[in-house]
Amino acid sequence: MRYFSLLLLLFVLFSCDTESNEVDKNPTSASTQDPHSYANVHEIKTEHLHLELDVNFDNQTIYGVARHTMSEHTTSEAIFDVKGLEIMKVTLGEKGKEKATEYSVGKNDELLGAPLKVKVGKNDRQINIHYKTTEATEALDWLPPSLTAGKEHPFLYTQGQAILTRSWIPLQDTPLSRITYSADVKVPNDLLAIMSADNPKERDEQGEYHFEMQQPIPAYLIALAVGDLEYASLGNKCGVYAEPELIKSAAYEFEDVPKMMHAAENLYGDYQWDQYDIVLLPYSFPFGGMENPRLTFANPTLLAGDQSLVSVIAHELAHSWSGNLVTNATWNDFWLNEGFTVYFENRIMEELYGKEIADILALIEFQDLTVALEDMKSGEHPEDTHLKLELDHRSPDEGMTDIPYVKGAYFLRTLEEKVGRAKMDAFLEKYFNEFAFNTITTADFEAYLTEHLLKPNNIDFNTKEWIYGDGLPDNCIQITSKRLDDMIDMAQAFNEGKQSKIKAFLRKERGDFITQEWQTFIRNLDHNLDTELMLKLDETFKFSTEANPAIQSDWFKLSVRTGYTKARPAMKAYLTKIGRRWFIESIYQCLVDSKREGDYEFAQEVFEEAKSNYHFVSRSTIKEVLK
Ligand code: BES
Ligand code: ZN
Repeated sequence: MRYFSLLLLLFVLFSCDTESNEVDKNPTSASTQDPHSYANVHEIKTEHLHLELDVNFDNQTIYGVARHTMSEHTTSEAIFDVKGLEIMKVTLGEKGKEKATEYSVGKNDELLGAPLKVKVGKNDRQINIHYKTTEATEALDWLPPSLTAGKEHPFLYTQGQAILTRSWIPLQDTPLSRITYSADVKVPNDLLAIMSADNPKERDEQGEYHFEMQQPIPAYLIALAVGDLEYASLGNKCGVYAEPELIKSAAYEFEDVPKMMHAAENLYGDYQWDQYDIVLLPYSFPFGGMENPRLTFANPTLLAGDQSLVSVIAHELAHSWSGNLVTNATWNDFWLNEGFTVYFENRIMEELYGKEIADILALIEFQDLTVALEDMKSGEHPEDTHLKLELDHRSPDEGMTDIPYVKGAYFLRTLEEKVGRAKMDAFLEKYFNEFAFNTITTADFEAYLTEHLLKPNNIDFNTKEWIYGDGLPDNCIQITSKRLDDMIDMAQAFNEGKQSKIKAFLRKERGDFITQEWQTFIRNLDHNLDTELMLKLDETFKFSTEANPAIQSDWFKLSVRTGYTKARPAMKAYLTKIGRRWFIESIYQCLVDSKREGDYEFAQEVFEEAKSNYHFVSRSTIKEVLK
């Protein structure tokens, strides 16, 4: 008996030991469950995915085969995520030697879609899923020619983040696991296809394209765009794709991107993805930018004409390290993607344009954060002000607030202030190297931070309070800007009716101030400002009709709040043209919150007309706002 206990003890010790080795190599994410995926990646996972896609614009359908090469395993079932897909058949084995296998699609959940369960034997490594997309797809935006710049060719793009890839490809849709992919894509021969992979620079006469992504990436970063696209190189492994009508202005707007690349590499080490291109999408694109590897997807609202909105590109480029190289393990750890990226973005901006501009950008974000914190405190989910989120049973989209982005960045800035920039940068470079091509949980990060920055430097920091606490800790760094303070003073003069100051200001021109100065001015005007004065401002600075879309978004909100209804035609034109969610959602929200007669009806009427111009992501958000 005693002998047996000893054996048992030895066994336990031995198995603990192997486990702790594993923990060292691949931290807690090795056992983490993703609440937003059905995939059993801890038992069997895709290593390589080969896609065969036939993109049919006539019936707005992609006919596809997803050929998954799986890891070695001992399970009898592989589970994939699917949503709104029609599965035709599932086979095992190499192309040409395929054998049908049993599979079942489970109950569909409105949020997560359904598990696709495929029976496999121990030696089966190749699973082929033959499928087609349906109207219910949430990732795909099929645009008629009328919604493109050229108005002659249709356009298609995908949006995968956070859990939409499963609506155009059957796969294990969790950032917990990374895959390499390749694709053979057939499109109409007057269009160019590009992906988050190595890309063609010219159209193929047959409309047939082959792609390879040799670095392992999470599923949400697989992306495709098809349209009448041209390429222009920007130098230093950077370039831009756009419709021919926009290629010149895109190349001008983004001309500093090679310098950004240089700055980014100087900060945190070599760019790992060989090439960095941007594709300018149509106006319906729901984001400012999306960091698809090797190919950032960008919103045409970035074409301000004066390069004033390029920080979005600095942001997407920064994701090539934070997010694409080191990836949040689940959407509850989203701040590890976005907070680090906003911090990094600002460092790139500082490098290129100086500290004054970087501080102005950080302060504009802080203004947004203050509003968001206020709203959330009294909202349904006050715990959403924590960096570490708990989004189980909720859409990951609900986590896309200023908390992971701005509170996340301010956490790092505050930490930087405490430890000094040199140590902070050395730590971050090491962190990106250490976790490159890996996924990371918040707990992994905390442990790494303690071990490699706080302990060696004997530093006390309230990390837990920042990550798991409500609101903003007291030690949050304070950034100031004289230029923005001046704009606040000027808004104050308007609010208080100081005629001489107002008159002098109305002799200025829109070009006298940068976008963020204008935003600060507009945001600080009183909500009961006289509509005559609103009109005067609009006539002088042409906010409604000629300002860039970022300024316009703030101006239209103020117009609603002050009851300046003369802005309505321009507002309607804006809301029917632009689908960028953060720009339009807040305007709709203002119209809904307004007590003024007719505002809600106006919002409904505009949405009815505009909704077919929006991608699913914005359409569903605005629908919710109008409820
Ligand atoms: N990755 C995000 C966009 C995103 C987040 C899509 C979550 C789907 C789910 C992208 O990098 C981003 O943050 N875009 C911002 C840019 C801004 C913060 C500079 C946007 O679109 O506004
Ligand atoms: Zn981002």
